[in-house]
Amino acid sequence: MLITPLLLLCVAICLSPTASVIDDFKANFQPQVTLRTWEQAIAMAKSFIAQLTLQEKCHLTAGVRGTCAGNIGSLPRVNFSGFCLLDTPSGVGDGVLYSTAFVSGIHIAATWDRDLFYQRAVAIGKEFRGKGVHYALGPMVNIDRNARHGRNWEGFGSDPYLSGENAFFYTQGVQDQGVVATAKHYICNEQDTHRSGVMKGANDAIVYSANLDDKTMHEIYLWPFASSVVAGTGSIMCSANEINDTRACQNNKTQNGLLKGELGYMGNILTDWMGSKSTVDPVLSGLDIDMPGNDEYMGYTLVPFVQNGSIPESRIDDMATRIIAPYYLVGQDQDYPTVDLDRDTMENNYIINRKVSRAGMILLKNVNNILPLNSSVNTNIYIYGQAAGQTNCGLEQTSWNANCGGALYQGGGSGFVRPAYAIDPLTALMQKGRDDRLQIRYITNQNDFVSINRTFSDRGFQNAKCLVFISAWSEEGIDRTDLYAFDNGEQLVLTVAQNCRQTIVLVNSVSQLNLERWVDHPNVVGVLWTGMPGSEYGPAVVDILFGDYNPGGKLVFSLAKNDSDFGTDISSIGDSNYTEGVFLDYRHFDKYNITPRYYFGYGLSYTNFSFDKLEISQANDDDKNSPVSLYKQRRMRPYNNFGHSGLYDPVYTITFTIKNTGNYYGSEVAQLYLGFPVQAREPLKILRGFERVYLEPNESREVALVLSRKDISYWNVVNQQWIVASGTHTVWISTSANNADIKLQGSFSV
Ligand code: BGC
Repeated sequence: MLITPLLLLCVAICLSPTASVIDDFKANFQPQVTLRTWEQAIAMAKSFIAQLTLQEKCHLTAGVRGTCAGNIGSLPRVNFSGFCLLDTPSGVGDGVLYSTAFVSGIHIAATWDRDLFYQRAVAIGKEFRGKGVHYALGPMVNIDRNARHGRNWEGFGSDPYLSGENAFFYTQGVQDQGVVATAKHYICNEQDTHRSGVMKGANDAIVYSANLDDKTMHEIYLWPFASSVVAGTGSIMCSANEINDTRACQNNKTQNGLLKGELGYMGNILTDWMGSKSTVDPVLSGLDIDMPGNDEYMGYTLVPFVQNGSIPESRIDDMATRIIAPYYLVGQDQDYPTVDLDRDTMENNYIINRKVSRAGMILLKNVNNILPLNSSVNTNIYIYGQAAGQTNCGLEQTSWNANCGGALYQGGGSGFVRPAYAIDPLTALMQKGRDDRLQIRYITNQNDFVSINRTFSDRGFQNAKCLVFISAWSEEGIDRTDLYAFDNGEQLVLTVAQNCRQTIVLVNSVSQLNLERWVDHPNVVGVLWTGMPGSEYGPAVVDILFGDYNPGGKLVFSLAKNDSDFGTDISSIGDSNYTEGVFLDYRHFDKYNITPRYYFGYGLSYTNFSFDKLEISQANDDDKNSPVSLYKQRRMRPYNNFGHSGLYDPVYTITFTIKNTGNYYGSEVAQLYLGFPVQAREPLKILRGFERVYLEPNESREVALVLSRKDISYWNVVNQQWIVASGTHTVWISTSANNADIKLQGSFSV
């Protein structure tokens, strides 16, 4: 291991001059559609709105009735046909026909693979474009702060850096197809309890207020939105909750201050549905579009406010420019398809969906290599649990009904995508059984213990492999009441485990689950986290169970032994106080020395890896194949918005080798955790890099991770700047947030 101490940097970095990375790299990108820079798009938008009357400009600022979830109205006089906005984040939502139900956000994040983040987003973007939809209402980048939050499945887990990388490549994948991405819900929408209020008095709604400090805001909750802005997102949706007692959609600090000011965001801000409750304050505080728009707070309502001087016309011009610019930015002025929501544009997206589905599944326990199953030996398979089979209620359900049961492909609410088809594990296992001559028996009524018990005396039961499928659902609008499995899943596992020495549990869950009631049972020899796996669930899980695919997904949150170990929870009163600050999830477990059941970043493989040769050097991009050049090329698009701060410039390159020392082709996710000097007041370690590396047996490869200035900075609340602290920064390369999994250690000094 080579440790290279470097003396440099320090001081405030947000003002340091930087060469334009855009100039350097835009030449290398070959876009599928004609994309533009923000400067070009804004100039085109300005010349378009120059021909509009005040009424017409105001008309753009509120949704109108139409066929889409959100509709920006047309202006026939100037041949403007309006915009169609539709839900996502994991496919084309809102009940349209012919839509691929992709793996959800929490599942793609668990792949820890940027190429897969991007490929899934490209496929989603193509379906949006094919249907003529202008805006995809995703990604959802709120942090998994509360394990019980009903919408955790839409987001990317508990870590801001991992969420930020997902936000970035989602935005890029979708916008490369000419579809405007919409990062949501801005900001601190980490619970749905009181998210938009319950009636307290006649016209007075209780809406929860997320109360947090400036450092926490910057380092945790703003981080993934900042990554969306850098990626070049055209739109951001403000949330319905309050932040420090002011509604998100009329919060001058978060909208004009942080987003449009500090981050230099040039796109529009639109409300979450009915997230705004008035006219002048939201507009002056930075809101650009009211959705769905039937409340008459904005749109034509703005005209008299401009005429009486309450709202300057320059603000209306700014709003209209921000509404039109993204259209030019992603090239929607050139041959964009007309809106037809039921047009079949799924093509072969099941292939990438199956790929990401299995890549995001996480092997948590594998005693004596019980997995993968070998179908020439493991011929008796017993399957238990309603979550193995198809739901009783059809695939349309967006909300939970206890009688429905069945495998879960996604969670519920506006993020639910009505799948054109979905293949459950039982069906896929049956097909495998036919092909490989397996003896399969199943019970999906998991409360029918008479039938379940009967299987234990079945002739084929001796030496059987028992697959127990459990699930946990959640949906928008309601937070979970607990972290246990649906329909007494724990009892099902224990009943089977008491009788079957080779019990393998498959956990089909929206987000965190408490596994403690059964995970230590000696007969539970395998646990596979199947996550929120999309409509290719069945084939994907069979690929893993029988070794056609070697699992490599990693947890995007910790699984605690006690629910209280998380230290954060849903607030049932009007205030949600983020008093934990930046000590969330593994940062909190480190601080209080709490051992979780499974650590953030954890996941097993059918093979093993070794790590070697850590080197830390200052970034340089002299060579176009250098890690730094490749890092930039991967990110570069005409529509990026890096700002002028140099914050996203690479400053260090960390290299090391990984070798596959086992017998299977497989992948490891190298995770870079950074330890900061005391001055930064940071947790023990923070995730600041990762790369999923796929290797043949015996193959070894050099991996290079790049740290940007922002990655090594902390938010200084006094200076109001990102600062690189003086002193020693420790670099740990690990395979999870467990300190015992650290493979390499080095440092650099600033
Ligand atoms: C959700 C948003 C969604 C919107 C439109 C709201 O209730 O919070 O995420 O995009 O509805 O369906």
